[in-house]
Amino acid sequence: MSGVCAGRVVVVTGAGRGLGRAHALAFAAEGARVVVNDVGAALDGSGGSGGPAGDVVEEIRAAGGEAVADGEDVADWGGAGRLVAHAVEEFGRLDVLVNNAGILRDRMLVSLDEAEWDAVLRVHLKGHAALLHHAAAYWRAQVKAGRPVDARVINTSSGAGLLGSVGQGSYSTAKAGILGLTLVAAAELARYRVTVNAIAPAARTRMTEAAFAEAMAVPDGGFDAMAPENVSPLVVWLGSAESAEVTGRVFEVDGGRIVVADGWRPGPSVDQGRRWSPGELGAVVPELLAKAAPPEPVYGS
Ligand SMILES: NC(=O)c1ccc[n+]([C@@H]2O[C@H](COP(=O)([O-])OP(=O)(O)OC[C@H]3O[C@@H](n4cnc5c(N)ncnc54)[C@H](O)[C@@H]3O)[C@@H](O)[C@H]2O)c1
Repeated sequence: MSGVCAGRVVVVTGAGRGLGRAHALAFAAEGARVVVNDVGAALDGSGGSGGPAGDVVEEIRAAGGEAVADGEDVADWGGAGRLVAHAVEEFGRLDVLVNNAGILRDRMLVSLDEAEWDAVLRVHLKGHAALLHHAAAYWRAQVKAGRPVDARVINTSSGAGLLGSVGQGSYSTAKAGILGLTLVAAAELARYRVTVNAIAPAARTRMTEAAFAEAMAVPDGGFDAMAPENVSPLVVWLGSAESAEVTGRVFEVDGGRIVVADGWRPGPSVDQGRRWSPGELGAVVPELLAKAAPPEPVYGS
């Protein structure tokens, strides 16, 4: 198959449904060979089934593409290693890792339950870190063996990670952590010719269709801005050889919109060259804040 990712081998995690499914289909349509990973869990991460991943593989093959299903849990350290090995065994190499798998267990902080906190951090944050680790080790070994590497990682954050979201303390924390991990990974893996970027998508999936029913509704006619398929073209381009110069960036993406998310950067500052006393700061901090851009509102506040 021809296309911007012709011949590339891509792992998409959580690709049995929603955004990951759309990414897997879009990569295959652009000529990539795809490992469709998904545990087939419920939205809260419970249960599991090979059905969703297998269905996406069938769809890709029916359209003339190449794909294989994988049922590893991305947050199992050894499982993440087996997923990378699966891609190499099946298709001979790995070029692109799309970290997308995720779950939700929304709670206000006052009602937070320890197990729920752990479950959300585990799938999103440890899931990203485990796969980054094993993919990085694979690419470093390739470089050491003298084989060419031109690889990509696309991580999945969220507006909740960029701005915070009421009732989603664990999810916002995990998604903000993924932004930090993206910056570090981009800096560390550049020497192996691996780029690492992140997206903050918005689309109609089981994660959003009930909670944001109005915003996610299918329009009567015209452009269906919240279709998950609208997010995938940027992910596929970031996975292609064309995006070699783009790394350490975060993109908000939905409908036909692509926004470069400008991260934390130094704002107004003051330095008096000696230690402050607390009593001096009442005059200094408000003055600094008056010169700074006002903060973006937290979602749901
Ligand atoms: N839908 C949105 O508007 C939106 C917005 C911001 C961020 N996101 C993020 O996009 C990603 C995809 O979400 P979605 O909306 O498509 O949700 P979804 O529930 O439709 O898909 C997530 C998939 O991940 C799989 N999964 C869960 N835990 C897994 C694990 N441990 N290992 C492997 N697979 C696992 C699930 O079985 C499911 O098929 C998530 O990281 C989510 O946080 C989505």
